[in-house]
Amino acid sequence: MEKHILISEKSKAGLPAHYNFPCDATASADIAASINALRGSGHGVKLAVLILTADELSRLEASGEHRLPDSVYFRIIITGAGIHESLSESPLLANVAHVTSSPFSAAELSFHLKKAFSSMDLEVKLAAERNAYQNTLLDMKQDQEDLINIGRALSIEKDPDHLFRLILMLSKKITGADAGSIYIVEVLPDGAKQLRFKYSHTFSKELPYEEFVMPLNRNSIAGYVAVTGMILNIPDVYMLSKSDPVAFNSSFDREHNYRSKSMIVIPMRNHLDDIIGVIQLINSKEDDSGNSRMTGNEAFEIVLSTPQDFERKVVPFASRYESLMEAVAGQAAIAIENNRMMKQIQMQFEEFVKASVTAIESRDAATSGHSFRVAEICKQMALAINGEEDGFFKDVRFSDMAIKELEYAALLHDFGKVYIDLAIFQKSKKLFPKEFENLMMRFDYLYRCVELRFLMEENRLLQKARGGIDVSADFDKINADRTSRLGRIREIKSTLATLNEPTVTNNDPEDVIRKVHEELDSLDCFDPDGHRIPVITDSERMNLEIRRGSLNPLERKEIESHVVHTYNFVSRIPWPPEYRNIPEIALKHHEKPDGTGYPGGISGETDIPLQARMMAIADVYDALAATDRPYKKSVPLEKTISILEDEARNNKLDAELVRLFIRHRIYESVDRDSFKTGVV
Ligand SMILES: [Fe+2]
Ligand SMILES: [Fe+2]
Repeated sequence: MEKHILISEKSKAGLPAHYNFPCDATASADIAASINALRGSGHGVKLAVLILTADELSRLEASGEHRLPDSVYFRIIITGAGIHESLSESPLLANVAHVTSSPFSAAELSFHLKKAFSSMDLEVKLAAERNAYQNTLLDMKQDQEDLINIGRALSIEKDPDHLFRLILMLSKKITGADAGSIYIVEVLPDGAKQLRFKYSHTFSKELPYEEFVMPLNRNSIAGYVAVTGMILNIPDVYMLSKSDPVAFNSSFDREHNYRSKSMIVIPMRNHLDDIIGVIQLINSKEDDSGNSRMTGNEAFEIVLSTPQDFERKVVPFASRYESLMEAVAGQAAIAIENNRMMKQIQMQFEEFVKASVTAIESRDAATSGHSFRVAEICKQMALAINGEEDGFFKDVRFSDMAIKELEYAALLHDFGKVYIDLAIFQKSKKLFPKEFENLMMRFDYLYRCVELRFLMEENRLLQKARGGIDVSADFDKINADRTSRLGRIREIKSTLATLNEPTVTNNDPEDVIRKVHEELDSLDCFDPDGHRIPVITDSERMNLEIRRGSLNPLERKEIESHVVHTYNFVSRIPWPPEYRNIPEIALKHHEKPDGTGYPGGISGETDIPLQARMMAIADVYDALAATDRPYKKSVPLEKTISILEDEARNNKLDAELVRLFIRHRIYESVDRDSFKTGVV
């Protein structure tokens, strides 16, 4: 510290002659000019004692020349007569070390100078301590804020790769590090562990990196930390000696013309205190302007390009970063573990859903893979919507979560079919095969009964003939009757077989059945004991009267109830909030924009969610495209597309979505036979 004594000409008279001042002493008629000179010269802390009269002090105050930078400490000794009352009001009162009206002896002057300088020494020391405390407080505050921000940021990030990037970026920022890497401990199926170099980034240089694995042992710096759990803070990795427990491999530096110098390596411990990885930070930076208050966040932006930069701007990692990074690594480990667990739970859940859907669809070869294909089509439609930059969907975007939600809803959309008799789904004719077989057998029985009655009649006539009675006319009549009746029975049987087909004909099935009944009545359908034969049951009649398709109204209702069963089942799953729409989407996949769908018969864009409208198209497309439904052949692609367009025109499907489906050729993304499982 420089020390100065500034003496005014006027006060000189009160000082001992030939006095040997302990430091640089300047006497001047213009004390203000001397102070000015002090203000302008050099850097660093200066201590000064001003010796002047009370008048000069007043003038100095009035002129404002007494104001000095914070780095100049001063004390005032007032000499001579004329102490004014105003002095007690002086802002410089605290700096006044001594006031005297009598001349100084050499001893007195020495004493007062020493006292003034030592009080300034103490003030400088206290100021330094105060600054140090203030800086520590600021550092702690900064660290605390960094930790809170890091905790918040890490807890939000869901994507594992983004998480690694975030951990490294935040670690580098708070420590001012130029480069860094993240290593993850992996447990192999046999229980052995390895260390995976997961992610690396250098601020000053675009350096490539590739994931690789290495044995988990003490041979590398990262391995050493992962095995021992110790924090390493190395001022210069090139200064490591053979006696140090770790050695630095400089091949990367040589290859990429980089200079690793200071390094801090921190283990990441999870809640069980297991080490799950390592954060390695390289080259803590500081600018070379002497700015000691630069934070890590500010230093992070410094670019290292020349060898001089590495020499001057790279400093050892401050020891406070050890505890700070330990806390960061702890948070990072928890975030990584949470992320892993969430992924695992999600994977397990997804596999469970897929296994359940596969099991249900395996009941029926006709629908095998249907839900998977619908899920894939829905996903492709969502991605296509995300790519729309103008037009109807330009403002609609599906997040990754929303796409997952849609996929789950699609996978489970027909889950409720598990509650419904499979035979109804597989019903390809109006009567179940057994019912039809029974009906045909009853006709065969009727045929035989009628035939038998005629035979009995013939027998009776033969007996008459043996008695000499001419029965030839009766015989001819019976023969004609038999031919006619049996022929009609065969014809009715064939009519009913035709009626059993689900095809739409111009004949009204009810009309046909009524006529068949009338005819059967007239045919005298009695067994040999004279009992009427009920050829067609009420249930068969109801089924054969179906006008369109193969299902009667009760069966249709039964099938339609699958959406409600799906909804009830899916609603019981405790979905996380991001999947809360799954039950509603699944429930409404058979609703139609014109309100003719089920189960609610609702209409419009607000009541039917976009995802349900997307699923409706995927569902219809797959049903048309499927190659082996029991009740129909697969429809060629051109025909399928034209049916979808017709449905859109008739407001049965969302027209904008159908246009998107066709424009993006979504149908090409899913093979019509894909996702089929080993059904028999
Ligand atoms: Fe369905
Ligand atoms: Fe479906």
